[in-house]
Amino acid sequence: MAKRILKLNQISLLGLDRLPRDEYEIASEFAQPDAILLRSHKLQAEDIADSVLAIARAGAGVNNIPVDSCTARGIPVFNTPGANANAVKELVAVGLLLGSRGIIEGSEYVATLKTLRDKAELNQTLEAQKKRFKGNELTGKTLGVVGLGAIGSMVAEMALTLGMEVVGYDPALSVDAAWRLPREVRKADTLSALFSRSDYITLHLPVLESTIGMINADLFAVMQPHACLLNFARQEIVDEEALVAALDERKLRKYIADFPSPDLIGRSDVILTPHIGASTDEAEDNCAIMAADQLRDFLESGNIRNS
Ligand code: MLT
Repeated sequence: MAKRILKLNQISLLGLDRLPRDEYEIASEFAQPDAILLRSHKLQAEDIADSVLAIARAGAGVNNIPVDSCTARGIPVFNTPGANANAVKELVAVGLLLGSRGIIEGSEYVATLKTLRDKAELNQTLEAQKKRFKGNELTGKTLGVVGLGAIGSMVAEMALTLGMEVVGYDPALSVDAAWRLPREVRKADTLSALFSRSDYITLHLPVLESTIGMINADLFAVMQPHACLLNFARQEIVDEEALVAALDERKLRKYIADFPSPDLIGRSDVILTPHIGASTDEAEDNCAIMAADQLRDFLESGNIRNS
């Protein structure tokens, strides 16, 4: 009998095409599926039917899946570490440039000049105003990378190619991850040491009990006032009340994040994108391929692999 995969949302078809159609049925509704494949859907424990043998998330974080309850029921939960790391790394590069140059302010200003039809007058106006949008170069600045897993280590490598100094901190650095890191990455002994010496700080941690609210008032207190904080990991890692207070007191220059929230939208010291870190064709294909392969391997051979 064909195995039934419940596909909950936004999964690239390239991944699903790897599952032979005569052996697998894929649909967005099944009363008793054999496995669940999902991306951002928030899965509740009570929605997981007794028939479910495995769950795969086409993405890195598993905070939308009740993992403890799955573990207690013997249901393995797969994710796709590294499959979208390149997409996130590239967005962090954009974030660094948005933090260092007057790109957004400059482009908003240019849009206000829409009614100036004379090119010479337009150029004259721009020349007179452009000093307002002067920035700084990233080369020679220090980037603090918090979390040195698949994404953090790629971000560190990218920053080195931009001529930045890189300082890393990981509360749970694995031996493999330590070997993968470029040797130019210096390790900070504490998070506070990393925060106090960085011009830019980027977060690449999962949501765990130990990481929720980890970026708190104590860390904002030691940041350099010209520094920028980038969060392309998860909203929950940053204590938002402490962040808003720190921005109000100008303890940091900018917060650049992939997670809009009502208290942050519209602030001139905040740049927000709508959780698009992994939203590229390539990342979606990579995640779906890895997740589909993991499910197939498990359903056919009982293998549990998270790669
Ligand atoms: C991730 O956890 O890898 C991303 O949040 C994936 C996504 O955007 O779906």
